[in-house]
Amino acid sequence: MEIDLKQLKNQALSEIEAVKSLDQWQKVRDKFFSRKNGQFVKLMKKVSQLSSDLKPKIGALANEIKQDLNQALEQKAQELGQTKAQKVDQDFIDLTLEVEKYKLGHLHPITQVQSELEDIFKSMGFMILDGPELESDFYNFEALNIPSWHPARDMQDTFFIDSLTTKTKDEKLVLRTHTSPVQVRSMQKYGAPFRGVVPGRCFRNEATDASHEHTFYQMEGLMIDKDISISNLISVMKELLQGIFKREVTVRLRPGYFPFVEPGFELDIQCLICEGKGCSVCKQTAWVELLPCGMVHSNVLKYGKIDPQKWTGFAFGLGLTRLAMMKYGIDDIRLTQCGDMRFLHQF
Ligand code: FA5
Repeated sequence: MEIDLKQLKNQALSEIEAVKSLDQWQKVRDKFFSRKNGQFVKLMKKVSQLSSDLKPKIGALANEIKQDLNQALEQKAQELGQTKAQKVDQDFIDLTLEVEKYKLGHLHPITQVQSELEDIFKSMGFMILDGPELESDFYNFEALNIPSWHPARDMQDTFFIDSLTTKTKDEKLVLRTHTSPVQVRSMQKYGAPFRGVVPGRCFRNEATDASHEHTFYQMEGLMIDKDISISNLISVMKELLQGIFKREVTVRLRPGYFPFVEPGFELDIQCLICEGKGCSVCKQTAWVELLPCGMVHSNVLKYGKIDPQKWTGFAFGLGLTRLAMMKYGIDDIRLTQCGDMRFLHQF
């Protein structure tokens, strides 16, 4: 038996050595290892029938030879440019194998709130518009009744773009501090009557805290028509908050100053993080500034080439990031941009 095994090993090694193609490789492998009538397999059956005093020694030799032959086959397959595993893969697909499932992502909470808002406004006949994030000084300030000398510019710490501040004031660029520049852009493009909302990113040179980021989202709203009044403004605000929170929320309307509206208001929402008890988000005041708004100033209408004698309108600048915080109970605005999956998986 020992001699038979050694002869078979030598014969197999020389046949493997002589293999020149994958077809030949497969034939040689089957010749020695096919389950039905492979020569090595047949010998192994005989080994299993040996008496118990011979079996350990011959069995160990047989295993050693099997390993050597498998190694020689593997090496030859690699020489031929294909591993045995690859060869088997090529011929065989195991449909029962578990495939790792795709991990699906989902929309960011701010995007979710944004699309809910868009649906609410579309149902009221508003267009959804866009505007440039790198904005001209003219649209960001001047056309909003904030000339270069106006102290209201200090209300929004601005990132000015030095290298592009050339020639005319229209070419002076800023990272837009709010979505309001799209007010005059839309008036110039669409005229009156007009209804539109503009969701988008804004940038301010903020010292960040739980409710202030340097990059955050707003949604501008603008409605211009005949006889638009504060009642229209308030009813749209109510529709918006009802649609988003799907429940009564406590709000307060107080006077607010923005050079581009007259009169101007601040609509605050009672903090939903602490339910009005006081926390770091509302800075212990129980209220969160959410929705500044007002009646469009006649100078702004004029910049938009709309006759203030014929048309009136309201505008608002919703803090979209803060609205998402209130809706989902996010207690630190910095989480919204951190990219931490433990945070994002919750929505
Ligand atoms: C404005 O930006 C005005 N353009 C809003 C406006 C539009 C008034 C139309 C009247 C008519 P304000 O600076 O208050 O206003 O910002 C509006 C909202 O954006 C705030 O109520 C707040 O919710 C959000 N916001 C402002 N700064 C930040 C910040 N640094 N981080 C996060 N949210 C902010």
